[in-house]
This record gives sequence, C-alpha cells and structure tokens, in this order.
Amino acid sequence: MLSKYFKSSLLKEIAAKTGTPTYVYSQAAFLKQVGAYKKAFKGLDPLFCYAMKANSSGALCALAAGEGWGADVVSGGELYRALRAGFEPGKIIFSGVGKTPDELAYALESGILFVNAESFEEVAELERVARRLKLRAPLSLRLNPDVDPHTHKYISTGRLGSKFGVSFEEAQKIYMYAAESAHLRPVGAHFHIGSQVHSAAPYGLAAGRLAAFMLRLASRGINLKYADAGGGWGVKEGGEMEDPAALARELGAVFAGTGLKLLLEPGRSVAAPSGLLLTRAIYRKASGDKNFIIADAAMNDLVRPALYGAKHPVELVGGGRGERRRWDIVGPVCESGDFLAEGVTLPEPAPGALLAIYSAGAYGMSMSSQYNSRPRAAEVLVTGPASWKVIRRRETYADLVAAEVK
Ligand SMILES: Cc1ncc(COP(=O)(O)O)c(C=O)c1O
Repeated sequence: MLSKYFKSSLLKEIAAKTGTPTYVYSQAAFLKQVGAYKKAFKGLDPLFCYAMKANSSGALCALAAGEGWGADVVSGGELYRALRAGFEPGKIIFSGVGKTPDELAYALESGILFVNAESFEEVAELERVARRLKLRAPLSLRLNPDVDPHTHKYISTGRLGSKFGVSFEEAQKIYMYAAESAHLRPVGAHFHIGSQVHSAAPYGLAAGRLAAFMLRLASRGINLKYADAGGGWGVKEGGEMEDPAALARELGAVFAGTGLKLLLEPGRSVAAPSGLLLTRAIYRKASGDKNFIIADAAMNDLVRPALYGAKHPVELVGGGRGERRRWDIVGPVCESGDFLAEGVTLPEPAPGALLAIYSAGAYGMSMSSQYNSRPRAAEVLVTGPASWKVIRRRETYADLVAAEVK
C-alpha cells in the first residue's frame, strides 16, 4: 500500500509544523514510478515527457528532469514552469487544442522539440508565427485514432467527435501542406487516447493505426521521426501504477525496429501514487442516516471526487481506537458537491485527528483553486526516511488579493 511511503510519525510532524491542509509527496514513490517506466521500456529507449498538467510542482518536475525526462506542456505557463524546473528545451513538447499565437511564439523561441498541433488553423498560425520569427517550426499532429480507452467520459479523448486531434484524412492534407512550407518542418505524429487507461490493448490499436498512417506518409515522401503515444496509463485504485511492461509490449510490437523515436507522456501514473492530501478533522456530525467528518480540506484543494466521482483511499493517521463506522468526508466549501470521500469505513476520529487522502499526487494541487477565498494548501516533499521540506508555502490571505488592482 502507499502508506509505506508516508510514515505516520512524519505526517504528524509535518502537520504540526506546516499546518493543514497540506499536500505531501514522496520522492521515493515518484522515483520508483519513473524507474518502473525506464525498466519496462529499456529496449525501446523512448523519450519520456512528463505531463506537467498532472502536477507542475517545480520540485517534482526537477526530479523528472534529473532522470533525463522531458516535459509535455499544454500552456505558456507550463512551458515557463518546465524551463524553470530544468527540463532541456529540446526535450519539451507542446500539446493542447488551443495554443495562442503568443504561446506558439514562446515555444518556438525557447527551442522546444516540437509542437503537437490539433487543427489546420493552428498549423497555419504556427506557420505565421514561425515566418515572423524567421525560423522553421518543428511540427507534429495529434491524430484522433478513434479508439475507445474505456475510461471516464471526461478523460476519454481518442474517439471521433471529441474536440481533440484531427482525423487521418485531415492530417494527410495538413502534412502535405506543411511539407511544402518554408516555415514548417513535419517531424512527428501523436495520439493521446485518454487518462486512467488500465489496458494496453487500446494503445496497441491506436499505435497500429498511427504506424500505418506514417508509412502511407513516407510513401508520399514525408518521413516523420517521432511517434508520440501520449500518456494516460492507469493507476490501480489506491495503489501504484499498472505494470508498464504490458504497455511496453503493445507499443514495442508496433514500433520496435521501425527506426522511429517513440515518445510517451506519462502524468498521473507517476504523480498520483506519489502524493497524499493531509487534512484535519474539524467537526463530526450526523444527518439522517449519514455520519459526516468535516475536514479542513475541501473541493477547492482536491476537486477530483466532485468532478469525476474519483475515489481516494482515506486513512486515519496513526490508526485510531474509536468504533468503526461509515463516514462521508466533506469540506467547508458551500456546495453539496464538496466531498473528498463518501461512505468510507474508519474508526471514529477525535476532533483534530489527521486524515491522509491517498493517490492525490496527480490532478490534485494542479487543479486546485481559491474558491470560497480559501488560500491554496502548502506542499511538502518527503526526501528520506526522516527528512522533508516545504516545496511551496501555504498561500496567505494577502495572496488571495495580490493580483487585484484598485
Ligand atoms: C496530450 C496529453 N498527454 C498526456 C496527458 C497525461 O495523461 P495522464 O496524466 O493520464 O498520464 C494528457 C492528459 O490529459 C494529455 O492530454
């Protein structure tokens, strides 16, 4: 279980010194997931581009960069953070359906590896920006392979009718156009079928379609170098990631020996198991047949349960001797959808007891907000068996209004 990375005594110490709610990350857990990917894909030698949207904390990004990983960014802000965290520009790729001209210019001026474009209009804009900057933009297209990843509809992205990617038919026209342009350099092709995908089979299907398309392009004289299979690999409920060896086998069966450089964009699978949200029970109350724990963390800190019905395992830090009962764990935000967990069985917590909400390292802090004017949580990195450091201080009330202009 993930609790092996987070000793109760350390969590108590962190809560006492930094307060709650606090995101706590384990360096060991993060590096273990990175290591698992590297081992599984050893034969294929892909470029891993950490999907920063999962968790863009500078300290975690620096760990990924230190392992030789690149970054997958989806905004100018993420690119800024990526460069600041130490990712090599030549290992950064820029994805996303609506990059603005300013963001494209920033990416090209930074010398990133390539842009994953998602429409003809975006490619035309990229060309205009590149012309203005007097350079040739490295271009990859996100293709929609029309594959069902069997995941939550909000995080399923690889079917036709989704806003993401372009069809193979459309892509062919765009590549032909780009190949003729003095300011575009077609270098790759990309798919990302969704997130929290637990089976490797949809990747095999999408990869097969991508490879066949790349072959067709090559027969028309357009030879791409990079095949980007996106991210999305699943995490076991409450545990570590699914064995990436299955994914490596599927992708290896398609790409090994083709001479193409494979890219992967893992986010959640690396970050989710590496973090928990530490919160304190403030009050308990009963209503109808329900028992509530009112915690000091809320949906503004961790929105996944409210947004996707995501289930996060919860433990009372240091156990507890009270009677075991079913609880809904809710926060102070004025919304009925403000819950962190529903119907979890726990010993009755004393007011002030600490709760650990596991599997919260991905899409936790990065999706957090200041809703209800709640300053964002602090972030802590556990660096050794008894060592930890604050990697982002808790926001203050002054931070809430810092950008306001009178
Ligand atoms: C283009 C792209 N790459 C990578 C990812 C990362 O997915 P995950 O965090 O599930 O690995 C996403 C997530 O939405 C994405 O849109």
